[in-house]
Amino acid sequence: METHYYDLIIIGSGLAGLRAALEAARKSDGKLRIALISKVHLMRSHSVCAEGGTGAAINQPDGDSIELHAWDTVKGSDFLADQDVVFRFVEKIIEEIYLLDHWGIPWSRKPDGRINQRPFGGHSYPRAVFAEDKTGFFEMHTLYNRLQKYDNWDRFDEHFVTRLLIRDNRFHGCVVYDMTRGEMCVFYGKACIMATGGAGRIYSFTTFSHTVTGDGFGLVFREGVPLKDMEFMQFHPTGLVPTGILITEGARGEGGHLKNNKGERFMEKYAPERMELAPRDIVSRAMMTEIREGRGFERKDGLHFLHLDLTHLGREKLLERLPLVREVGMKYVGIDIIENPLPVRPVQHYTMGGIHCNIDGKTTLENMWAAGEVACTSLHGANRLGTNSTAECIVWGAITGEKAVEYIKNGASEPSKMEDVVKDEIQRITEKMIGKKGKENLYDIRRELRKTMDEYVGVFRDKEGLTKALKKIKELKERYKDIRISDESKVYNTELINALELENMLDTAEVVTVSALKREESRGAHFRTDFPKRDDEKFLKHTIAYKDEKEGVRIEYIPVTITYWKPVERKY
Ligand code: FUM
Repeated sequence: METHYYDLIIIGSGLAGLRAALEAARKSDGKLRIALISKVHLMRSHSVCAEGGTGAAINQPDGDSIELHAWDTVKGSDFLADQDVVFRFVEKIIEEIYLLDHWGIPWSRKPDGRINQRPFGGHSYPRAVFAEDKTGFFEMHTLYNRLQKYDNWDRFDEHFVTRLLIRDNRFHGCVVYDMTRGEMCVFYGKACIMATGGAGRIYSFTTFSHTVTGDGFGLVFREGVPLKDMEFMQFHPTGLVPTGILITEGARGEGGHLKNNKGERFMEKYAPERMELAPRDIVSRAMMTEIREGRGFERKDGLHFLHLDLTHLGREKLLERLPLVREVGMKYVGIDIIENPLPVRPVQHYTMGGIHCNIDGKTTLENMWAAGEVACTSLHGANRLGTNSTAECIVWGAITGEKAVEYIKNGASEPSKMEDVVKDEIQRITEKMIGKKGKENLYDIRRELRKTMDEYVGVFRDKEGLTKALKKIKELKERYKDIRISDESKVYNTELINALELENMLDTAEVVTVSALKREESRGAHFRTDFPKRDDEKFLKHTIAYKDEKEGVRIEYIPVTITYWKPVERKY
């Protein structure tokens, strides 16, 4: 068995992981050794799919300001964001936009050469900096390119972390399945940054790649590290029907209209001032209401949808600003947006919650940080604004990279070799999982889990549905213990990977559902039809979920940090 020793271990290679690696490399004076572990090929991380833009108040001479960006974020969050975190974010993202510019990103430009920006939902100023409608792709390439300047980092692609080594409130390393060689190996490190992304694939209709399975959530939760605000799941208004592929909000930012089967721009009824550019929770609820009340379209397979109409924007603008949307429309549904509207409906898109972190992205462990979607610094509260996610990855990638290096340089202790745990884990994978002869089909369990989440833990929830979901998830967890893994091969055993991912998905889904059940109010993306009002008296607080041997999940609450704006009614 191979054993690796590093100063810093970064798990996940999307925008947050790459930015963290880059900052750590920049700040380590070439001295520290950094490992970047990814279950996919580095540049296949889901961040390459980010489309519409990265929010930053760079145009202050023309009326934007960090206060305005902060206010939009806090109001968008339904006042559950920690306001000190929000201010840190809106300030820092500005320098990050220019850093990326200096590192060569091809930001879309205005005719006079300045960086262009487009409107986005919930923002009261057009502040989405973008690179066509492939922003994440260009950001990833720019960071990757810049990383080549440094030689103190090693990449471990297609390496799946099966267990974290955590003892005495510290991270010591991780046990890893190297898919390429079919070998188990161990990494020891003085510090760790988790950057594994979200959990979109616990739903079947999602904008996420198949690889986004809540691995980081499951890994830390099973080791006793708490997750925060997991009930807040974002549904993006425009998932392409039937695949769920993201049709960027940038399409509405450029002037696209949502229409029902009567040809009405129905957002007039729900958010008359902002219309299609209200925050996502509001637009998604409006769309589901239109569908439920019979004003949607229906496909032969029973899937309902509405129209995203871009035809009035004209060929030239569509080709310049939304080339990917056009390509996706033509390839996946045979529709050219220049001529016809696209079929869309709300789609799972983002996990507002995550590993409980402080303002520096530090988890409750002494030497573990988290950045990007897997983290919950409480930037987004109950509802994230579009463009604040790529921005968050970049900002907290940089912060956590710097903080972890500072920690190591200040004399971090050596990791303990947790040989007992390592031995057990290797046995679990190689002897108990590969070739496991159970009677349950893991793909059935996965399908049933997704169906349950789609049906009961979606845009609208209530006690009855959530209780059913929880019962089902517990049943699926029991059945999981008796799965079979018929593939006995070692190299690229995808059935094993699917089983490991399912374990993470089940744990994540349980936390989401329990957290949603306990929050008896409606706030941001969490809408309880049985408690349709926000209840600041009882629930202006963050949910903290711990693993509990008896109950599965134990919930506690902590206060929201309110430094500037008292909660008021949220109208658009
Ligand atoms: O619609 C989009 O382009 C998504 C952006 C985001 O989630 O921030």
